[in-house]
Amino acid sequence: MAAQARHERFQLSDGADLARCARQLGVTIPFSDDIRTLFSPLDVAGRRLPNRFAIHPMEGCDAEPDGAPGPLTFRRYQRFAAGGSGLIWFEATAVTPEGRANPRQLWITPANVDGFRRLVDGTRACSSEKHNVLLVLQLTHSGRYARPDGTPRPIVAQHNPVLDSRLGLSPDHPLVSDGELDQLQEAFLHAAELAAAAGFDGVDIKACHGYLVSELLAAFARADSRYGGSLENRTRFLLEVAGRIRARVPSLLITSRFSVHDGLPHPYGFGADTEEFAEPVELARRLHALGSPLLNVSLGNPYHNPHIGRPHDMPVAGGATPDELPLVGVARLLRAAAAIQRAIPAVAVVGTGYSWLRHLFPNVAAGAIARGDVALVGLGRLALAYPDCVRDLEANGALDPEMMCATCSGCSQIMRDGGHVGCRVRDSDIYAQEYRQGRAWAAGRNEQDKRR
Ligand SMILES: Cc1cc2nc3c(=O)[nH]c(=O)nc-3n(C[C@H](O)[C@H](O)[C@H](O)COP(=O)(O)O)c2cc1C
Repeated sequence: MAAQARHERFQLSDGADLARCARQLGVTIPFSDDIRTLFSPLDVAGRRLPNRFAIHPMEGCDAEPDGAPGPLTFRRYQRFAAGGSGLIWFEATAVTPEGRANPRQLWITPANVDGFRRLVDGTRACSSEKHNVLLVLQLTHSGRYARPDGTPRPIVAQHNPVLDSRLGLSPDHPLVSDGELDQLQEAFLHAAELAAAAGFDGVDIKACHGYLVSELLAAFARADSRYGGSLENRTRFLLEVAGRIRARVPSLLITSRFSVHDGLPHPYGFGADTEEFAEPVELARRLHALGSPLLNVSLGNPYHNPHIGRPHDMPVAGGATPDELPLVGVARLLRAAAAIQRAIPAVAVVGTGYSWLRHLFPNVAAGAIARGDVALVGLGRLALAYPDCVRDLEANGALDPEMMCATCSGCSQIMRDGGHVGCRVRDSDIYAQEYRQGRAWAAGRNEQDKRR
């Protein structure tokens, strides 16, 4: 990188401005004036997607206590579907009760699978027929970030001095055993069967952001275990689950969202080995060989280095201001997706990191697709703020500047404060109040902590 720059909020006006900034930073940001490629079809697993847009998985923390989708869950996905993306990647959904990240996380069970079926049907009904939207459900176990009853109940695959201290974990906190991981494979299998019964087209075995399967990918220091040490062992859980789902539910598309780089030093982070992402590329090759036609690439850990996975103007309360310009983070995300896409052109890679770019995102996305750096463009926070952005772009060739995501971390803040997640700025009727209530709750909790 040519020059270091301190963090600054977004202030890019046009492509020339973006190119100038990228040059100064020594980073590569693709750009194309021709955005028609975003609306070119893509064949994935025998399905023709109408365009190159995907809605990224984003937890809404609005499930019913039994894990079934709640009213706001339905609303969110119906808005996403009406927005016109060809692929909707449903949020992290727990496969066991103790693996939930919060008491309002989705959790799929035989008792509530009908609720998920209604969610699928309701989502499809809001998508136009021409879109024939592809629906993928992300299956997760939250591992060290499990909070099934709202308090931390960490389930840890490997001790990590950087991450343990944040959770107050002592070095003798027991690790999840190989036997328990074997059992957990069954839970993923069972959840995949339920997802198929609910009508999802595919399942994602979530392996990103430091949750359990992600932590296993980095379990270099996990000793005397079938799930630690060598690449073979560290990828065992993910690959065995993928292979077993494929054998048991052959009709289901199998994919994974994985962190190509955790932003943690070796031996505690996956993808920290070389700049060339050697291990992540190898993992992607193995997933593809097992029949995954689609992969979703992310980076980092939202609890430790949120700017790596979600370049932003403002951090959550108490979060550090990153020591880099968000454009550097965007470039890193684009590079990570390109590393996987270029190594395995036959797989459709969903890229991440576009929301911070505001009105410039379509040109950057079109540039990335034109270069063969990515097949699909994933939208996260922007979709919460502006669910109709794809439809507007197709109809008008431009986006509404009043609807852009401010990358203010308000949605992440609501999540931290225990509320229902949405955009407090652009969907304020519901979420401005969620935000305020959450902040008030957090202030009360801090007061209590002070008095203790
Ligand atoms: C409120 C919130 C919830 C999220 N939940 C998930 C999730 O369930 N699964 C996941 O893989 N990523 C999750 N993410 C990360 C997003 O999918 C996405 O990678 C990130 O926001 C960066 O994309 P963006 O710049 O378009 O927002 C979440 C992000 C936010 C802000």
